[in-house]
Amino acid sequence: MFNVSREFAPPFGLIAPYFVIGAIFYLIASFVLMTFGTDITHFDIGVVGWAHLFLLGFVMMIIFGAMAQLVPVVLEVGHFSVDFYYLIWPLLALGTVLMVVGFWLTPGLLPYGGMMVLISMLVFLTDTILTLRKVERISLTVKTVAVTNAFLLLGILVGFAMALGIGAGVGIDIGKWLNAHIVLVLGGYVTLTIMGMSLILLPMFGLSHGFDERPINLSFKIMVGGVLLYLAATLFDSGDFRFLALLTMIGAMGLYLYQIWLIYKTRARKEADIWFKSMVFGYGSLALSLPLGFIGVMGGAERVGLTAAWFLVMGFFTFLINGHLYKIIPFLVWFERYSPLVGKKKVPMLADMVPKKMGEFQFWFSAGGVAIAGFALLIGNDEMFKAGAAFIATGAIFLVTSVNWMMKFGKEEMENG
Ligand code: HEM
Repeated sequence: MFNVSREFAPPFGLIAPYFVIGAIFYLIASFVLMTFGTDITHFDIGVVGWAHLFLLGFVMMIIFGAMAQLVPVVLEVGHFSVDFYYLIWPLLALGTVLMVVGFWLTPGLLPYGGMMVLISMLVFLTDTILTLRKVERISLTVKTVAVTNAFLLLGILVGFAMALGIGAGVGIDIGKWLNAHIVLVLGGYVTLTIMGMSLILLPMFGLSHGFDERPINLSFKIMVGGVLLYLAATLFDSGDFRFLALLTMIGAMGLYLYQIWLIYKTRARKEADIWFKSMVFGYGSLALSLPLGFIGVMGGAERVGLTAAWFLVMGFFTFLINGHLYKIIPFLVWFERYSPLVGKKKVPMLADMVPKKMGEFQFWFSAGGVAIAGFALLIGNDEMFKAGAAFIATGAIFLVTSVNWMMKFGKEEMENG
């Protein structure tokens, strides 16, 4: 990201809404969490609505914003049309709201919301595919982007078909396709994308080099195999293959964790800033989620499986995303406001552009909340779950204020000349 040339770098005004709106969706979803108890199952329509509020409004919104910046770096060519990104976030935000209202209150709205989200993602996929076509050197990263995008496309098409089933009475066996949808979007897109991005971002921010990259390359292939096997198992309705596919994916993630350990061991920057702490908590959550997921799959225990999903989504996905905001936003703001001034005026360092106290509060409230609520889910204690959710919501307030603080850094000074 840091060596992206001005020619390829998308304008700040284009990327900023993704991070601001993503953080606001995170805040709203955190407050909604307080309304849940521990008797939830993943079939509850209230939980399904929440899952999309969180995953589309926060996780996908921020991944797309980061992709606007990273795609040119990873693929070493400029976007086919970066202007597409002006369309993606409004469609995704509005579509998400309509979908969530559809799940919670008015099923008839679901296909409309689903259609908007589908279009926003098709715009994203179109830019990515047309950008991929410009690439001359087909590296592993290029293949990775192609594969994850294909999984996303399949996943949202399955989602849209289910939305038509709920909102428009189209005959589709939701029981059969629901898990394939989850595996495609969460395993095939979000997890594989995080794996690919982390291989670039972690060594860059932690200054690691000279480590062996074979584990991640292998884990990537195993994970892709696991997702494909799950898809085949759904098509042929085979419980045994579904089981095998889940174990394959857990194994792939275990190997990925080993890769992270190798990157950690070779890092040159030892400072424990908010980014570093967030990575430790995020990967710690993944390390907890994998054995819990294994027990859940082997024993079929819903509560253990739910706790595994909790640590995967609220611990791993969330801390990896939020932790990186403290690196990515200051860089974007610096590039926009200060890079033209280098050599003419004294410019701040990136580390000065992070709200350290607010960031600490955000980290500790969120981490405490995820741990407390995760434990409460495991033992089935409602009050404890709500207390954990309240901590997460408090952390979310600090996240939104931190994002706002970083976005505004130096703005007034610039306006006043
Ligand atoms: C066009 C976009 C999408 C549409 C129309 C859609 C629609 C749906 C529908 C109809 C369900 C099943 C509801 C039920 O059980 O009755 C569902 C479940 C689910 N979707 Fe999506 N989805 C979309 C995109 C996504 C994306 C991008 C993600 C993740 C990043 C996602 C994650 C999930 C999850 C985790 C569930 C299961 C929730 C639970 O069982 O509690 N969806 N989706």
